[in-house]
Amino acid sequence: MLTVSNLSSGYGKLKVLYDLSIDVPEKELTVVVGPNGAGKTTLLCSIMNIANVFSGEILLQDSSIKGIPTHNLAQKGISYVPQMGNVFAELTVMDNLHMAGYMLSKSEAKDKAEQMTEIFPVLKKFIHRLAGTLSGGERRMLAIAMGLMKNPKLMLLDELSTDLAPIIAERVMMEVARMRDELGITILMVEQMAKRALEIGDTAYLLVSGEVKYSGDASALLHEPELCSMYLGIKHSSDKGKEFELSVMDEGSEDN
Ligand SMILES: Nc1ncnc2c1ncn2[C@@H]1O[C@H](COP(=O)(O)OP(=O)(O)O)[C@@H](O)[C@H]1O
Ligand SMILES: [Mg+2]
Repeated sequence: MLTVSNLSSGYGKLKVLYDLSIDVPEKELTVVVGPNGAGKTTLLCSIMNIANVFSGEILLQDSSIKGIPTHNLAQKGISYVPQMGNVFAELTVMDNLHMAGYMLSKSEAKDKAEQMTEIFPVLKKFIHRLAGTLSGGERRMLAIAMGLMKNPKLMLLDELSTDLAPIIAERVMMEVARMRDELGITILMVEQMAKRALEIGDTAYLLVSGEVKYSGDASALLHEPELCSMYLGIKHSSDKGKEFELSVMDEGSEDN
């Protein structure tokens, strides 16, 4: 679906990503993990033409999307959910969904919004509430639903777990897996909550200082103790043999 090859990109003249190549197969969940500042968000920003692409190629279903203005990429079938969700706090849940479906006709948008409330019952419950009054997890679900309003071929998700309590982040991750399994959406997800992301992902890339240090089966990366402890804060637990534990390093703040 999406092929990024030999990408070098950054901001201004600053290079953040070096010769990076990733492949996002159709209907799969591809995850990119790595420490803070590795360049995960920059990768998504490069695809969205927000960051500066110096060299390399970005293909969506074999046609180049390099240099296409950000606002035109939705029409090409890409939905981008930025790190902090981006919902309109002053609008109701319903109006947020309609806003996201601006490219659709009025009746299409209405049907699609209806469908979103079926997929995410929590949105139905709060359909007339202002988005600003939702909890962090609910807002994240709304942001995902807004991404889906555009009937995307490809969803780009940036650290959905940011600032969520672990149990809420877990729920959001399960919704992402469900999106792949039940809706057949192709997803490229960037995550700091590496353990859970690797468990639900198909293929994974480990990004460190703008370079790919691992690419391959997502769950297999969990069995690379050195990479896990060095870059992902996942410690090999000697008590449990083959089990791995998430270290307390990245605890989310309280939510709800
Ligand atoms: N708008 C920007 N201008 C300049 N440098 C940036 C900008 N955004 C991010 N960076 C730098 O790019 C590097 C990668 O950042 P980022 O892609 O946000 O990492 P990650 O998402 O993996 O935490 C960092 O060194 C960061 O300081
Ligand atoms: Mg980031």
